[in-house]
Amino acid sequence: MSDVRPVFVVVGVGSGGGTGAATARLFAKEGYSVALIARSLDRVTKLEDEIKLAGGQAHGFPVSSYSYSDVTKVFQQIKQHSWPSNPKAEIRAALWNASGENWGHFLNITEEKINDTVQSDIIGPFAFSREAILAFQANTIDSLGRRGTLLFTGATASLRGNVTTSAFAAGKFAVRALSQSLAKEFGKQNIHVAQVIIDGGILTDYGTERRPAGEAPEAYITNEDVRLDPNSIAKTYLYLTNQDRSAWTWELDLRPAHEKW
Ligand SMILES: *[C@@H]1O[C@H](CO)[C@@H](O)[C@H](O)[C@H]1NC(C)=O
Ligand SMILES: *[C@@H]1O[C@H](CO)[C@@H](O)[C@H](O)[C@H]1NC(C)=O
Ligand SMILES: *[C@@H]1O[C@H](CO)[C@@H](O)[C@H](O)[C@H]1NC(C)=O
Ligand SMILES: *[C@@H]1O[C@H](CO)[C@@H](O)[C@H](O)[C@H]1NC(C)=O
Repeated sequence: MSDVRPVFVVVGVGSGGGTGAATARLFAKEGYSVALIARSLDRVTKLEDEIKLAGGQAHGFPVSSYSYSDVTKVFQQIKQHSWPSNPKAEIRAALWNASGENWGHFLNITEEKINDTVQSDIIGPFAFSREAILAFQANTIDSLGRRGTLLFTGATASLRGNVTTSAFAAGKFAVRALSQSLAKEFGKQNIHVAQVIIDGGILTDYGTERRPAGEAPEAYITNEDVRLDPNSIAKTYLYLTNQDRSAWTWELDLRPAHEKW
């Protein structure tokens, strides 16, 4: 493994069991220094320790909110951080995986939930994308013809609303609009922007309403046909960051084998 490790920035590592954390672990294993952003000090510290123990490089950057200024500030810290064996901290990949999980009947969607959705799905991603793109613009073109890869996690609700998704879908539609616009505007600068539609329950969602109706929690955990494994989603993110410039994906979708779509 070369001494200089590119930096991968991931926002939204949750409890450590989901998509963001699985992606952080895989990218660390593949030789990236991983910058972990979440709204909890405990969570980023726990994952940082775990990745280091496994021989990877990681550093946690907790934020108090996904406001424009907090996201911009934390990105500046990441750029200035002195990464072991990587003094230049060249950022080559970034993932926005945080999301306003504000499910619920429309009449119960409060102003607070709307604000949280706007911050997690519009304001934060705008600030994050700006900083990521500015970082990529300073990079040289790599052997695959790119300056950097910016990824977004989408959902079924990126494409379709449903009875409890007025806020969730509004946020996910916004992320998709941003992702597509950036892909078109910055492709010509060899910056790859892509989003992944997760069309189904993820293993970590087993306790929530996203578990398929009638599926007992235990079956949901053991039945690989009905839910997505975060480690498998992570492999797709890695695949996207390894595409060469002659055949880039803007959007792809993932669903478990037995999803009724
Ligand atoms: C990361 O994305 C997945 C898939 O949409 C979602 O279930 C999870 O809650 C996200 N993590 C955070 C911390 O928002
Ligand atoms: C809104 O939430 C309240 C309290 O949680 C609940 O009693 C009510 O049934 C909900 N309304 C709708 C339309 O879901
Ligand atoms: C929602 O955000 C607006 C604009 O920043 C603010 O004026 C308002 O007080 C916020 N509402 C709640 C309930 O937090
Ligand atoms: C829409 O919501 C209903 C009721 O919760 C659910 O049965 C159905 O599977 C949902 N459809 C999609 C496409 O998620």
